[in-house]
Amino acid sequence: MKREKISVIGSGLMGHGIAQIFALCGHAVRLYDIRREFLDKAMQSVRGNLEALVERGLISEQDAAAAPSRITTTLSLEEAASDADFIIEAVPEDMSLKQDIFRQLDLFSKPSAILSSNTSVMSITEIASRATRKERIVGTHFWNPPYLIPLVEVVQTGDSSPESVAFTMDVLHRAGKRPIHCRKDVPGFVANRMQHALWREALYIVEQGIADASTVDEAVRLSFGLRLPQLGPLENADLVGLDMALAIQDYLLPHLCDSHTGSSLLRERVTAGELGFKTGLGLRSWTGEESAASHRALREYLLDMAGRRGTG
Ligand SMILES: NC(=O)c1ccc[n+]([C@@H]2O[C@H](COP(=O)([O-])OP(=O)(O)OC[C@H]3O[C@@H](n4cnc5c(N)ncnc54)[C@H](O)[C@@H]3O)[C@@H](O)[C@H]2O)c1
Repeated sequence: MKREKISVIGSGLMGHGIAQIFALCGHAVRLYDIRREFLDKAMQSVRGNLEALVERGLISEQDAAAAPSRITTTLSLEEAASDADFIIEAVPEDMSLKQDIFRQLDLFSKPSAILSSNTSVMSITEIASRATRKERIVGTHFWNPPYLIPLVEVVQTGDSSPESVAFTMDVLHRAGKRPIHCRKDVPGFVANRMQHALWREALYIVEQGIADASTVDEAVRLSFGLRLPQLGPLENADLVGLDMALAIQDYLLPHLCDSHTGSSLLRERVTAGELGFKTGLGLRSWTGEESAASHRALREYLLDMAGRRGTG
């Protein structure tokens, strides 16, 4: 099996998990950050994640022991870039920082290397603007936690070559991910556009006094949310019949939120300093215990789902 050299730039919440994915399937990985203590913490997190996968029987103890030793940490961007075949950037969501990182990666890396950004929302075209070889730059949008969520959105810009996209799809496939090809560099790519269309309506229902926040969440979890991992919206439309889908849309869509700005309910809460888990008040109120329980329950659920797929 081909084993490209992988580099991950930024070892935070996303970067350490992305490095872990490639190390676990046998690639040599370089992990870059700006401070030694960040890299030490990242390696600690990788070991913790791998232990959880072993406890669930998702990977063997031998694999968990071998993976961290394939990750070399570095404080030099040049060293991280120089012999890599595939470089994934996961530094903070700051346009000029990302542009500068790509300018340097473009200089330091081999001409054949493919470069990608893990940005959640920013334009890949803009991120690549200070690089010269733009044809080898794509988006790779992993979801958090990257080692438990299968999807990676591979974003093609107007400049990315089909070969860069094909290479990226292939290397991700071989690492056990489920890459999808997003053919246009548009805000929200594919999945976040749908997620935020749902959030817009969920917030509007609360704002309009139709139901409160916990009721809205329950309505999703106990109805179409249950079907979603099995039946996507478009297969669902085919299943009910497109004539029926059209009739429902013609009747319902005029009543749904079509705002082009952030929710006024969110704006009101943010202005009041009610930010959710981190302040104890948000759309609902949260004790420290409740928010910790929510985090734990999500991780357990994602580990269960990984177990059902038979993969970490
Ligand atoms: N957190 C999420 O849920 C999530 C999901 C998908 C995508 N993303 C995207 O992934 C990227 C990374 O997000 P994260 O949550 O891992 O961020 P984070 O703040 O946890 O990690 C970023 C890391 O980059 C490092 N870094 C490396 N070079 C740097 C430099 N020159 N200046 C400043 N920091 C530098 C930081 O020290 C830090 O360790 C962002 O673009 C983000 O939008 C995040």
